[in-house]
Amino acid sequence: MQYRLQGWSKKYELGIKEIDLQHQYFFKLITRLADELKNSSDLPYQKSLFTELGLYTHFHFVSEENLMHRSGYSGLQEHKKLHNKLIDGLNKNKLLFEEGHIEAIQVIDFLEMWFISHTVKEDRKFAEYING
Ligand SMILES: [Fe+2]
Ligand SMILES: [Fe+2]
Repeated sequence: MQYRLQGWSKKYELGIKEIDLQHQYFFKLITRLADELKNSSDLPYQKSLFTELGLYTHFHFVSEENLMHRSGYSGLQEHKKLHNKLIDGLNKNKLLFEEGHIEAIQVIDFLEMWFISHTVKEDRKFAEYING
């Protein structure tokens, strides 16, 4: 299966500098994790990449929620719920992969879905609110 997220694209940009920079870095971590899950069989290293992605995700979500708070965004609570779901999903995928219940490609699918449907679509709603 062809990996759908090729390179960073202008169409992923929301027009909020701080968030766009974080998303670019997040994108980089996702593509690195996806590549390493496919190409490496070093499980401790793969686990460590999941941890790196998880920690950055946590930072990014808190940072985004704080910005939403400062902007008086009414969708904040709803958005927080989506973030929590993604964190649960990431933890679940990590565990299932580590225990050999799912293949790398399934984790990659989850990460792609996340990037495309959350970062590009849900975060855009906030960008539209902020940018008027
Ligand atoms: Fe985001
Ligand atoms: Fe978000």
